[in-house]
Amino acid sequence: MIIRRKEFWKGFMRMSNAPVLTIENLRSEIEGKEILKGLSLEIKGGEIHAIMGPNGTGKSTLASALMGHPKYEVTGGSVTLDGEDVLEMGVDERALAGLFLAMQYPSEITGVTNADFLRSAINARRGEGNEVSLIKFIRQMESKMKELDMDPQFMHRYLNEGFSGGEKKRNEILQMMMLEPRIVILDEIDSGLDIDALKIVAAGVNAMRSAERTFLIITHYQRLLNYIKPDFVHVMMQGRIVKSGGAELAERLEAEGYDWVKEELGIEDETVGGNDKDEFVVPMNTTAPKFS
Ligand SMILES: Nc1ncnc2c1ncn2[C@@H]1O[C@H](COP(=O)(O)OP(=O)(O)OP(=O)(O)O)[C@@H](O)[C@H]1O
Ligand SMILES: [Mg+2]
Repeated sequence: MIIRRKEFWKGFMRMSNAPVLTIENLRSEIEGKEILKGLSLEIKGGEIHAIMGPNGTGKSTLASALMGHPKYEVTGGSVTLDGEDVLEMGVDERALAGLFLAMQYPSEITGVTNADFLRSAINARRGEGNEVSLIKFIRQMESKMKELDMDPQFMHRYLNEGFSGGEKKRNEILQMMMLEPRIVILDEIDSGLDIDALKIVAAGVNAMRSAERTFLIITHYQRLLNYIKPDFVHVMMQGRIVKSGGAELAERLEAEGYDWVKEELGIEDETVGGNDKDEFVVPMNTTAPKFS
């Protein structure tokens, strides 16, 4: 039997379970203000992508739009996961499909303990009749908390309530480890972490690296990328990816800031409110370039 090449690769990707998230020309607005202005990016299983960029350029908006935050209205473009339309999915369906976001500012939920929250999330993913046993769940949570050097009392505390900045970030990584998502978006996971915690969190991320998972890491600092080596680094300005490179791009940004990028691309105001937004056309590929 002759199998067409395209069909073969499609079948192979399904077999290997390697995710492919494709974002094409994504536009999103909030309260009538356009923030994402045609963002394209493809991330695949096994890859780690870092997104850097000055404040207010739309990085967290991208994360929220991908997760389906109701406040961010998608006005154009497409997002697919393994060819399935993500924008058609509700927030819970996106989580079930394997999307996960560690938020820049995790919400506090009074009345729901950390353990209850995680068990519900895991069981929602496993489906009715296939719930994880309580004993197995607790053992697993205890072991992951140990890896993250978290005090066991955090199991029974209300979700994020009164957690310090660093404790919240560690707890987001705990959720990631327990939920084993396929598409992991980390929004400034390094902010608020002391050096030891940064190393612990990075070790947690590195331990989760696999061909069946991909990471999109939003950060301001090269320091995190010393511990989690990215395959691609993208610069975001004016609600788009304006430049892509390898790990060396992050090093240059750390050393020189963003002025050279703005100069190179003729950007005056990098924020989403920039008045050169309409004339500005960025030469870019929908697929990030490969670096070896
Ligand atoms: N809910 C909202 N209401 C009003 N404006 C918003 C909202 N969310 C985002 N914005 C605006 O959109 C722009 C982009 O915000 P976003 O949080 O995506 O930036 P960012 O790149 O993540 O910045 P930072 O590096 O500071 O985290 C900002 O000007 C912000 O004020
Ligand atoms: Mg942000």
